[in-house]
Amino acid sequence: MSQYSILWFSGTGNTLLCARALAAALAQEKAEAELVDISAAAYWQPPADNTLIFCWPVYCFGPPRIVRKYIKQMLPGDNRVYQLCTLGGDGGGAMSLTVRLLRSKGYRVCGGTEILMPNNFTGGRIPDAGSIQDLVATARVKIEEFAQSILKGEHVIQSVSVADPVTARGLNWGFRLAQPLLGRLFKLSKEKCTGCRICVRTCPVGNITFHSLPRWGKECELCLRCLHICPQAAIDYMGALKKGRPQYMAPETDFAKTR
Ligand SMILES: Cc1cc2nc3c(=O)[nH]c(=O)nc-3n(C[C@H](O)[C@H](O)[C@H](O)COP(=O)(O)O)c2cc1C
Repeated sequence: MSQYSILWFSGTGNTLLCARALAAALAQEKAEAELVDISAAAYWQPPADNTLIFCWPVYCFGPPRIVRKYIKQMLPGDNRVYQLCTLGGDGGGAMSLTVRLLRSKGYRVCGGTEILMPNNFTGGRIPDAGSIQDLVATARVKIEEFAQSILKGEHVIQSVSVADPVTARGLNWGFRLAQPLLGRLFKLSKEKCTGCRICVRTCPVGNITFHSLPRWGKECELCLRCLHICPQAAIDYMGALKKGRPQYMAPETDFAKTR
């Protein structure tokens, strides 16, 4: 049986890349780690003895709604828990929001790490190919160190964020409140869309249906996978692509093949 359960959620592959790198680093030390896709494991309960490592991207200074939901449905337990957050600039102390939830169920939170990755948010700055390589290389080194700390059972907190936590919490609160509305702001170019349905097939929460054209429902996580994966760049959000911002998918990620 595996000793480590790595529970991940990822929109554009940054977090999946990190989760896989972590699993590989643990395996190198002969530890067994299973990767669990949170979006496909709504009611999966982790084995009682496993150390859990939650991996998720920061969305407006907080965890994705699906990660909160997952933790909320977990049965009480006393597993050791670590977290790995990927972010494009500043996490604003996002990890503390899940720490409270986990502790309220008895889980022993041993810390976590923030990993700076390319920013996939349409409002942020998506780096060029060279910077992407550099960020990923630095992330891999940090993840190997993190794996060593986990193997030793150390308490570890590594943060790269500087945002004021109180402001960050306020903004995250507003974001969560507005999320149902924000998920309806996708704009589809009817001229560009070929009806290939890759957005429908790869949406991690099955929020896109097809009625002669893709249509977004009410469960959007705002992961932006649909926007970044569309082969025609037919999906826009807040005019980002229109303004010339490139699409982004993490290296070594092919959600089109894996789902
Ligand atoms: C809706 C949204 C909100 C985001 N908010 C933040 C943020 O508050 N701080 C930050 O540093 N990065 C933010 N990002 C960037 C992502 O956290 C970052 O690019 C992450 O690595 C993406 O991971 P993924 O490829 O696994 O989805 C945001 C991205 C999205 C889509």
